[in-house]
Amino acid sequence: MWGANVGDWLRRGVAVLLGVTGIVVGPTWGADPEVLRPRVPVDQIEAARTVTNPLAATPENVGKGKALYHGKAFCATCHGRDGKGLGDIPGLVGRLPRDFTDQTWQAARTDGELFWILKNGSPGTDMAPFIPLILTEEEAWQVLLYVRSFGGR
Ligand code: HEC
Repeated sequence: MWGANVGDWLRRGVAVLLGVTGIVVGPTWGADPEVLRPRVPVDQIEAARTVTNPLAATPENVGKGKALYHGKAFCATCHGRDGKGLGDIPGLVGRLPRDFTDQTWQAARTDGELFWILKNGSPGTDMAPFIPLILTEEEAWQVLLYVRSFGGR
């Protein structure tokens, strides 16, 4: 069947655009250890890992994060409404947002590392910094609570 809904096609469109620009230089997709390779530069990762989420994962905070993810922070455009990213597109595998529902990936990252990415972007990829232009620090922590919820937490 034509199972892909309009959102899927939009996501694929974005993916193709990203692919055509050739800007995204990402990890190899799937079970490849490249997905788990730390993204925070080695001289900053120790400090980044000491940073913890000041917010509790209450339904209210996760709900605020969800609204941001699907709304003004447009994370869903690239990372997918379901958090599964865009890594299943032939020819673009490895250059696109990872699967947030991947438990191994969830376990490999500290909250502090993810926060560092929202502040600085992910070096060598199309992931831009979102703090402070799009998200306040508090909003970033709310979004990260929602990202964690993809891992079933
Ligand atoms: C323009 C597309 C795009 C948008 C919008 C976007 N991202 Fe990304 N993001 C990427 C790409 C590409 C990567 C690099 C590939 C990867 O690591 O998954 C990435 C990487 C990440 C990472 C690092 C994963 C890791 O451990 O290496 C996090 C965390 C992240 N994004 C969260 C978010 C959040 C939260 C939002 C919304 C505030 C967002 N992204 C918006 C494309 C995007």
